[in-house]
Amino acid sequence: MIAQPRMDQVEQIRADFPILQRKIGNNRLAYLDNAATSQKPVAVLQTMDDYYRLHNANVHRGVHTLSEEATALYEGVRGKAARLINAPHERQIIFTRGTTEGINLVANTWGRANLGPGDEVLITEMEHHSNIVPWQMLQQQLGFTLRYIPITDEGLLDLSQLGNLLTERTKLLAFVHASNVLGTVNPVEQLVAAARAVGARVLVDGAQSVPHMPVDVQALDIDFLVFSSHKLCGPTGAGVLYGKRELLEEMPPFLGGGDMIREVRLTGSRWNSVPHKFEAGTPSIAEVIGMGAAFDYLQALGMAWVHKHEQMLTGYAYERLSQVEGLRILGPGPEQRGGLIAFTLGDIHPHDLSAALDSEGIAIRAGHHCAQPVHDHYDIAASARASFYLYNTVEEVDRLCDALVKAQEIFSL
Ligand SMILES: Cc1ncc(COP(=O)(O)O)c(C=O)c1O
Repeated sequence: MIAQPRMDQVEQIRADFPILQRKIGNNRLAYLDNAATSQKPVAVLQTMDDYYRLHNANVHRGVHTLSEEATALYEGVRGKAARLINAPHERQIIFTRGTTEGINLVANTWGRANLGPGDEVLITEMEHHSNIVPWQMLQQQLGFTLRYIPITDEGLLDLSQLGNLLTERTKLLAFVHASNVLGTVNPVEQLVAAARAVGARVLVDGAQSVPHMPVDVQALDIDFLVFSSHKLCGPTGAGVLYGKRELLEEMPPFLGGGDMIREVRLTGSRWNSVPHKFEAGTPSIAEVIGMGAAFDYLQALGMAWVHKHEQMLTGYAYERLSQVEGLRILGPGPEQRGGLIAFTLGDIHPHDLSAALDSEGIAIRAGHHCAQPVHDHYDIAASARASFYLYNTVEEVDRLCDALVKAQEIFSL
């Protein structure tokens, strides 16, 4: 059984994040922009500091103590990532710079090898641009058809269309696990089963799910899963692509250069084995090692605990925000969403709203959140978004709601 989150536990967690002690003007920081990037605990900062102070060297290359230490620390993170998502083997963990690079890697390797005229790639209208643009770019070159599962006004995938959209022509179904605008948590099992029925492969964008809830790639039978370190308490510049072994073995390399080869001759080259085949050049060593410390930190708490805490905060925020006059929440009710809420408030521009909240120390996001098609669906250019994480409190949600009411008063003068 998962223990109910307790606020004194959250206070202890907050003490691990130095930035949360900051003031913005005269106000305590209330950081509610976690879907954009999360804050970092001392354990991550310390690990990266130690790496540079004590172990810094290039990986996989040197036969000297520092290089061997750096290599062991870097390679050790594969096992941690594998445990986080229950991957069968750590060799199925490819280090990337983040979700965007992971999707581009799959598009340019698996996609180039498997897609052509007559084939279809099915994505959804609620994708982040990083799961739209790489497919559009590839489509222009390879001539396959890109199709989209529409969304309902409630902000769910309109699965009544699935039978028409997912056919034997579909080679890949690529979708976001948890939407970064609507909050919607999509039914992965159902979508994977539908893809399997027509022989399509599945790529899941876990940027907003892996940091916030347990995700099990074996139980969900996912072919490719991508996520970013910086949204799960780790540093920027690192991320993970998980892939099924047989797919990774068959895929050609992504970038060419050092480390991804076994042998280079003037007449040609032979590729290194998986995962190194996909990691050309000097990788983000300190960042990957820092990401490993973030995995340790989250796993010590348990992803089920993190999820429960966010569900509690989201349920509370949803209820309170629903009571603010003129506030329109985008997306479904709290039962079907992750830990974020995007909204509009009357005709106040989200940027003005965000600036007003900032003057009270409250950080939210305003804009299209790199998901313009979602905003097009609702015929709006932008929204404001509050997104929660393990260190956020009910009191911060109260501050958000009170500040919104105050902003509304000011803007209506
Ligand atoms: C759902 C989703 N997918 C992909 C991304 C891209 O992540 P990154 O910028 O770390 O590559 C984001 C970032 O906001 C996201 O929310």
